[in-house]
Amino acid sequence: MKSLSGIVVLLALASHASATIPISSIERKTNLPFVPNKFIVEVDTAADIPGKRSDEAPHAHVLRSLTNRGIGFRVGHAYNAPGLFVGAAITLNSTNDVKALQNTPGVQAIRPVVLHGAPKPVYSHVVSGHGDPAVPPETQSTHVLTGVDKLHAQGILGAGIKIGIIDSGVDYTHPSLGGGFGRGYKVAGGYDFVGDDYDGSNTPVPDGDPLDQCAGHGTHVAGIIGADPGNDYNISGVAYKATLYAYRVLGCQGDVGDDIIVAALLRGYSDKMDVLTLSLGGSSGWTETTSAVVASRIAAKGPVVTIAAGNDGEFGAFYTSSPGNGVDVISVASLDNTVTLLQNVTVHGPAHPPITYFSSLPIPSTEEWPVYVTSNDTTVIDDACNPLPDSTPDLSKFVTVVRRGSCYFMTKIINIQAKGGDIVLFYDNGNGFQQVDFFGYTDAALIQAADGEWLVSQFVAGTAVTLNFPQHGASVEYPDPTGGLISSFTSYGPSNDFFFKPSVAAPGGNIISTFPVPLGSFAVLSGTSMATPFVAGSAALLLGYKGRSAAVGRSARSLFESTARTIASDHTDEGPLQTAAQQGAGLVDVYTALHTETLVTPTQLILNDTAHYQGNQFITIKNTGKAVKHYTLTHVPAGSALTFAPGTIFPVDGPVPLSTDYATVKLSQTTLVLFPGQSWPISVRITPPTTGDPTTFPIFSGFIKIQSQTEITHATYLGLKGSLKDAQIVDNTDGTFGFNLPALVDSNGDPQTGPANYTFVDDDWPLGVVRLAFGTPLLRFDLVKSDIKVVPTLNSRTLNERTPVLERDFFSFPHGKPNTFAQVAIVGSLLEVDYIPRSPTLHSNTVEFSKTFANGTVIPNGNYRILLRALRVTGDSTQERDFDSWLSPIVGFSDPSNTTSSSP
Ligand SMILES: *[C@@H]1O[C@H](CO)[C@@H](O)[C@H](O)[C@H]1NC(C)=O
Ligand SMILES: *[C@@H]1O[C@H](CO)[C@@H](O)[C@H](O)[C@H]1NC(C)=O
Ligand SMILES: *[C@@H]1O[C@H](CO)[C@@H](O)[C@H](O)[C@H]1NC(C)=O
Ligand SMILES: *[C@@H]1O[C@H](CO)[C@@H](O)[C@H](O)[C@H]1NC(C)=O
Ligand SMILES: *[C@@H]1O[C@H](CO)[C@@H](O)[C@H](O)[C@H]1NC(C)=O
Ligand SMILES: *[C@@H]1O[C@H](CO)[C@@H](O)[C@H](O)[C@H]1NC(C)=O
Ligand SMILES: *[C@@H]1O[C@H](CO)[C@@H](O)[C@H](O)[C@H]1NC(C)=O
Ligand SMILES: *[C@@H]1O[C@H](CO)[C@@H](O)[C@H](O)[C@H]1NC(C)=O
Repeated sequence: MKSLSGIVVLLALASHASATIPISSIERKTNLPFVPNKFIVEVDTAADIPGKRSDEAPHAHVLRSLTNRGIGFRVGHAYNAPGLFVGAAITLNSTNDVKALQNTPGVQAIRPVVLHGAPKPVYSHVVSGHGDPAVPPETQSTHVLTGVDKLHAQGILGAGIKIGIIDSGVDYTHPSLGGGFGRGYKVAGGYDFVGDDYDGSNTPVPDGDPLDQCAGHGTHVAGIIGADPGNDYNISGVAYKATLYAYRVLGCQGDVGDDIIVAALLRGYSDKMDVLTLSLGGSSGWTETTSAVVASRIAAKGPVVTIAAGNDGEFGAFYTSSPGNGVDVISVASLDNTVTLLQNVTVHGPAHPPITYFSSLPIPSTEEWPVYVTSNDTTVIDDACNPLPDSTPDLSKFVTVVRRGSCYFMTKIINIQAKGGDIVLFYDNGNGFQQVDFFGYTDAALIQAADGEWLVSQFVAGTAVTLNFPQHGASVEYPDPTGGLISSFTSYGPSNDFFFKPSVAAPGGNIISTFPVPLGSFAVLSGTSMATPFVAGSAALLLGYKGRSAAVGRSARSLFESTARTIASDHTDEGPLQTAAQQGAGLVDVYTALHTETLVTPTQLILNDTAHYQGNQFITIKNTGKAVKHYTLTHVPAGSALTFAPGTIFPVDGPVPLSTDYATVKLSQTTLVLFPGQSWPISVRITPPTTGDPTTFPIFSGFIKIQSQTEITHATYLGLKGSLKDAQIVDNTDGTFGFNLPALVDSNGDPQTGPANYTFVDDDWPLGVVRLAFGTPLLRFDLVKSDIKVVPTLNSRTLNERTPVLERDFFSFPHGKPNTFAQVAIVGSLLEVDYIPRSPTLHSNTVEFSKTFANGTVIPNGNYRILLRALRVTGDSTQERDFDSWLSPIVGFSDPSNTTSSSP
């Protein structure tokens, strides 16, 4: 039986009533996505640094200054790209020295080294041959969908354009990828920054050869851009005459740190790549990670940078990935193919046709199983939401059939596993026969309601029914109910600081492409990872057609956005268009992007939230054609995304519900005649929707459609009704674990409710458990005296030691002085981190508290409390009222080996 532990916190699924998960499923260790004590330091350009000798590296002055002050550190990658990024990755012996680092002359910025997960395709399968059930029926349909086929027919193939792929490397020995490496080959260059064994936490072993024969992801990406036609599966890359460079930043498995991604980005820039593409990233919501900042700066200089928007659509809005959030990069959403392949299970016993289940691959079981149903009643709402009764047989000998609904799929699976069960068929409860993500749990699938009801009726009647799962020949071409729509896994933007993410969409579902030869040569993968190289290849076609120049590169995003095709939210006639927070400007129409004679600038009208509202916008329309054009301008609204669950502090899980409460748009003119070469400004005044529930933080968006006799282009607007500062950051509910958060949890897994002592021997230390309902620019834990007089914003009223109420204005926040924080005396800092993403459903942030301060100094025995503070989005870090705060119960430090103690 497969174990679910370890992935437990990932199995969140949409639209179910509340359910809690056991705190014991949480590992007792810090899970913040940073490399401890490692920072990327950005310094001024060399000339600005006082006391710098002319012959030394720009950051040498900073290092010398640290050494002079006795601060311990190690230097990793050094970056010297004046105008882009000058600095170094530095690991400090003690985090407290960050302050000293900050005060060093010449230091511009210090950012933690963020760890990015290895790209996880939503679906991945190595194909076995032509008969393989997973090969999409029309391998080149993605080219037809986007006009790439027409460009290929015109001989536009990306010849002479250099594309750098920052990924897991490329298997260039693949015959469809040129069969070799170096000058004259398709994969003409690159570098391996990490080596096979790198996993994000160990020491990279770089070399000159970016061969990937163990991971496969980068090889798949390379094929989407550059596979030569004439192969077994009739596929070709979008820009298969382009020259590829492979920058390998991922080992065979594991994560990659920002420090490596930045090194690869700068290398790609100095190698004069026309396009850089990154199908990687981590859920973030922020534009501030170093790799996002550097990627954006590169894009501003001319090279096109395409980066995946992320596969976190199920977690709702404000959650696009970084570095894709980089302000000037093209963040790419995914579109679903029109046909999907599902599998059949064969029914034995009573004559009955096969039952189709929603999975691209067969459930990996070759035996024939009897059926067990967890309820004889097909109308039960919470089937298997509670532990199954003692009378339940050993379910390892059955296929268990369960009705969908009321609690998480995960909860049901765990209850079934508790009785030995493994294979589970969920029957639909009216929510729809659709892709349900079991996060890698391959032994569960959804069937239709009627099929489930039939199986239950046979069970109740005592009829012996057995099922088996053919491993070949039982696939069904099923019209993908979401075909032609944005893939539900595409992360929703915008960024927390309201940048327009994702930018555009491209096909990313069910994509067949090259795979390392030792791993099978071809594979089908799904994800924004697959959509991203499609846009990289499209950019190469653009540069190949219009010329390699910084100006063309900088125009790429606008051209793709203005010519994109808007995507509906569903296949009914009534449904609104999908929110721009998930589709961006729409599906790329590469043919039109290259050939349009109408230029629109800007293509993104970012209105921001209502507290920082920019409702008066201008767009300029230019006719670059040879004939007079008559334009009609209209407002085409997209659905307003109701991003928060009404009346709660939580962003709603995806798919984010849409409403038809639209903004009002006033254009200075709705018709326009432009002569060849003429351009004209149009003023656009956009008023937020007046109806709709403001507690749902509606994101309203839409298009200003500009239609001539022959062309349709558009600008896309995006705004928020409400102020992001009103979004509570820290979750103080009991919805996740059944007790109020934040909490300190002891070694027994019990939340601390009153004073408690910790010896810090073995497992006897408090685990801080915090959920962030929204992302925060600053999260801080301080040790404070136990009798501190502060009024936290979030403590629940059940806390049994009330603190005296003081004036709220007592706080303000000049963080810097070691012994005060927000004008309150602190004993010392335990942790301070910047730009933390919110915690998606069922996830939490955990912090391991040790017997030391952040700087490593041992905390004297005594009684204290822990004060948690989180800055609200757009909040002012000098204003107390812009923070959420929470004060812990009394924490006694009673290390028995230490007789020294302090008075509280
Ligand atoms: C910092 O740590 C390194 C290795 O852990 C050690 O060699 C060095 O002496 C330390 N430096 C200071 C100033 O503590
Ligand atoms: C491969 O492509 C060619 C030309 O586009 C087409 O004629 C042929 O039918 C395709 N073969 C398969 C197996 O799809
Ligand atoms: C469900 O039906 C089966 C088969 O008829 C029967 O053995 C079982 O007792 C029923 N369970 C309940 C709870 O009624
Ligand atoms: C799969 O099941 C469906 C529904 O019973 C049936 O129409 C179809 O023919 C089956 N296909 C295969 C290949 O078994
Ligand atoms: C939105 O407003 C906030 C607060 O002023 C600002 O920090 C942010 O940069 C703005 N976003 C954009 C895209 O301009
Ligand atoms: C913590 O330890 C101190 C000293 O041993 C003791 O006085 C106090 O009662 C203990 N508190 C709790 C809550 O156990
Ligand atoms: C570490 O921080 C504590 C609390 O602020 C302070 O008392 C101590 O002096 C610091 N230690 C060092 C080595 O800076
Ligand atoms: C005891 O605590 C003091 C701080 O009060 C610290 O300096 C000392 O290293 C600790 N001793 C042990 C054995 O942990």
